[in-house]
Amino acid sequence: MTNHYQQAQQHLLENHYHWLVTGVAGFIGSNILETLLKLKQKVTGLDNFSTGYQHNLDQVKAAVTADAWANFNFIKGDIRDFVSCQQACKNVDFVLHQAALGSVPRSIEDPILTNENNISGFVNMLVAARDAKVRRFVYAASSSTYGDQPDLPKVESVIGRPLSPYAVTKYVNELYADVFSRCYDTQSIGLRYFNIFGPRQDPDGAYAAVIPQWIAALIRNKPLYINGDGETSRDFCYVENALQANVLAALSTNSNAINQVYNIAVNARSSLNQLYTMMRTLLIDQFPHLGEYQPVYRDFRVGDVRHSQADISKAGQLLGYDPTHQVDQGLRQAMEWYIQHLS
Ligand SMILES: NC(=O)c1ccc[n+]([C@@H]2O[C@H](COP(=O)([O-])OP(=O)(O)OC[C@H]3O[C@@H](n4cnc5c(N)ncnc54)[C@H](O)[C@@H]3O)[C@@H](O)[C@H]2O)c1
Repeated sequence: MTNHYQQAQQHLLENHYHWLVTGVAGFIGSNILETLLKLKQKVTGLDNFSTGYQHNLDQVKAAVTADAWANFNFIKGDIRDFVSCQQACKNVDFVLHQAALGSVPRSIEDPILTNENNISGFVNMLVAARDAKVRRFVYAASSSTYGDQPDLPKVESVIGRPLSPYAVTKYVNELYADVFSRCYDTQSIGLRYFNIFGPRQDPDGAYAAVIPQWIAALIRNKPLYINGDGETSRDFCYVENALQANVLAALSTNSNAINQVYNIAVNARSSLNQLYTMMRTLLIDQFPHLGEYQPVYRDFRVGDVRHSQADISKAGQLLGYDPTHQVDQGLRQAMEWYIQHLS
């Protein structure tokens, strides 16, 4: 029996659409690009390389056939520039909007820049997509929208107060997408990603996410910092699950599924201490220095929520979302990529 995602993939192999992926040189965007090109889709990509890299695009090129790569058109441009958004949306069927400045601490340090990219840029993209009459606008929302709401698991309809400027921007995205659907009859779907990880997630820089940062520290035998007591927990979600969600959200023919937001996660929770142990176990055979290795515990980080775990039943019921990768499986796959690229 085939599941919804397999059916959607088959549909794409038989039907050729034109997609716009913003943030295409970033972690999630470049993985989406690879998936779509392998499914014989035509893709336009938009990125300003603020946190994305040419080498991510080069890796996608190496992973697909020359024919598939010929279906990709890259625009170096900024979503803060409306003309670039208009140019990118031309003749597009589906927008998968990933471009934004990520990271809670970055937003606390520079709320103006985060606001410009994540809110002004988002509205530019919504207007350009509306004017170009794209079929659907699927966008990267965030679990940070749950803010100080303490209940677990997180259910889409119950959110708290945002804990960072980044969280505000991601919540405002949802409000704008919703208002556009009512004022202009546009179709959008927001995917509240929960700690996505996988190949090509940047391990370097002050704002690197925990998983790539730790893998790099373990492989390079550098200090690994655990914020707080290590019992902070997250619903870590392998990127393959997020790719599935994007494809299902774009193609869904269920009218009840449109103009909604969905948790995209696996509905499991790992503490930072558990995560550390899993990673060290996966690496220790190849990196004997890890026998003596110890993490460094330091203060809790401002703006971090203590625990996070998603109820994913809404995405399951309305989109047919069914995560294929649990955290340990995803870590194993991601680790192969990091060992190859960081060792
Ligand atoms: N990775 C996660 O765990 C996670 C969780 C929740 C939400 N998100 C959201 O998912 C999206 C993708 O995140 P990612 O982890 O791939 O991050 P990333 O930083 O690797 O990718 C973001 C991409 O957007 C590009 N970009 C940023 N500002 C831009 C602008 N003004 N114009 C054009 N391009 C711009 C960057 O250069 C980069 O290539 C973001 O919207 C992020 O907020 C990610």
